[in-house]
Amino acid sequence: MVRENFSVLDIVRIVGGILFFNALLSYWFTSSATWGYHGKYIDWRFWRHTILERELHLSLNELSSYTGEDNGRILLAINGSMYDVTSNRAVYGPKGSYHNLVGKDAARVFVTGCFMKPDEYTYDLRGLDKEECEKDIVGWQRFFRTHRDYWYVGNVELTFDFIKEDPPSPCTHMKFPGRS
Ligand code: HEM
Repeated sequence: MVRENFSVLDIVRIVGGILFFNALLSYWFTSSATWGYHGKYIDWRFWRHTILERELHLSLNELSSYTGEDNGRILLAINGSMYDVTSNRAVYGPKGSYHNLVGKDAARVFVTGCFMKPDEYTYDLRGLDKEECEKDIVGWQRFFRTHRDYWYVGNVELTFDFIKEDPPSPCTHMKFPGRS
């Protein structure tokens, strides 16, 4: 006897079967169930953010707890826009070479590259060339937003209390290789 209607369960079985066969085939050829792809679209954290959080709005104080301690989440911000970089613990985690960029908005150091000067880890851009700031900040924001492993999560609320103090002293720029 032939059944006339497909149930939802039948569709789940067929799609599940296709996915399983695809993963098997991929594993056979590439030793990976995803044809060698390891980016955000197969990262559960990306889907948890996309479906449940959508857009985060944090204060600077809240952002400061996302530094990857105890294997936790890692966020960084550039001029108010926040990105999830948890998947690259080797670079941004507590032992990573760029750990100082996380849990804060350090837009200024993305422009100057003065990593050895602690007061550069701020979003205070006073004293810097406006065009250079715009070019570098937009460039880095694009880098994190479109990166295979990172994603935009929302924004951090910036306060401008630093206005009462002097801007960081000038330092010799150290540009990212390939940028002038
Ligand atoms: C404005 C200056 C600079 C900025 C803002 C900057 C920022 C960054 C960032 C955010 C990353 C991580 C990229 C990722 O997530 O994949 C990175 C990686 C890297 N940068 Fe820089 N950088 C600068 C200058 C330099 C310079 C001058 C050098 C070399 C002398 C350098 C060497 C590297 C290396 C080797 C990596 C790879 C790190 C790793 O995989 O551990 N950077 N840089």
